[in-house]
Amino acid sequence: MKIDGSTALVTGANRGIGRALVTALLARGAARIYAAARNPAALAPVVAPAPDRVIPLELDLTAPATVEAAAEAASDVTLLVNNAGTHGVGHLLDMDLDVVEDVMRTNFLGTLRVLRAFVPVLERNGGGAVANVISIGAFGGTPSLGGYPASKAALLLMTQAVRADLAPRGIAVHGVFPGPVDTDMLDYVARHEPGLGDFPRASADEVAGRTLDGLGAGAEDIFPDDFAAQVEREWRADPKALEKRLSGIA
Ligand SMILES: NC(=O)c1ccc[n+]([C@@H]2O[C@H](COP(=O)([O-])OP(=O)(O)OC[C@H]3O[C@@H](n4cnc5c(N)ncnc54)[C@H](OP(=O)(O)O)[C@@H]3O)[C@@H](O)[C@H]2O)c1
Repeated sequence: MKIDGSTALVTGANRGIGRALVTALLARGAARIYAAARNPAALAPVVAPAPDRVIPLELDLTAPATVEAAAEAASDVTLLVNNAGTHGVGHLLDMDLDVVEDVMRTNFLGTLRVLRAFVPVLERNGGGAVANVISIGAFGGTPSLGGYPASKAALLLMTQAVRADLAPRGIAVHGVFPGPVDTDMLDYVARHEPGLGDFPRASADEVAGRTLDGLGAGAEDIFPDDFAAQVEREWRADPKALEKRLSGIA
């Protein structure tokens, strides 16, 4: 995927990795970037550096009308970055099931909803690429992270399935697997599950830059920080050992 001159849409663009992706796309010459968020008012500082190239857009993964309206408004997209996601700590056997449902509804079904809305847009524009921001959490069920690893594992297998469906239609599908990243999400997890806060954190800027490197190189699986790169080595060498390590963390 050539970033220079592309038209991108980033979900969850108001903060964290999504916001860093907008900045990196700008720096690498994307012609237009739709910065999508469920609260468009939160996008003002994201749009401010380049209001001629960054277009704010309302998009809530769990609200179908906003997804459909976004696909109509952003009809020139050639790169869809499914970044938005949520989390919920606790143990699956006794935590509030509503929290588990919310995580699955957002990270898996919500991402699928956005993808389904934008495939016709990408096709009309001659193909292009989709990047799904998954997580190294998809490779092992860390117990205290509730439904999050399961939602990301579901997203990983969805990514593989649609990759096969979309390749003949000229659309490349990439999976992005960050390790621990210094954002609000990890702050929350560390506050509630202190054992999970001890890992070295990559910056959102580094993760965004290395994600675009991977897209530029055509990598199907992108591990955009050093911790993630180590996980990739373990995953390739011994997936069972990686499962044990991640599920043994807490
Ligand atoms: N931080 C990490 O260590 C880490 C590691 C691996 C993967 N990831 C993944 O990276 C992605 C970005 O995470 P982050 O660390 O940047 O988290 P973050 O700072 O918590 O940001 C999450 C973003 O997702 C948005 N979002 C949540 N639910 C949404 C919904 N229903 N519709 C639209 N937007 C929604 C949030 O919007 P609001 O501001 O409106 O809440 C926010 O913009 C997520 O998919 C996450 O799972 C993060």
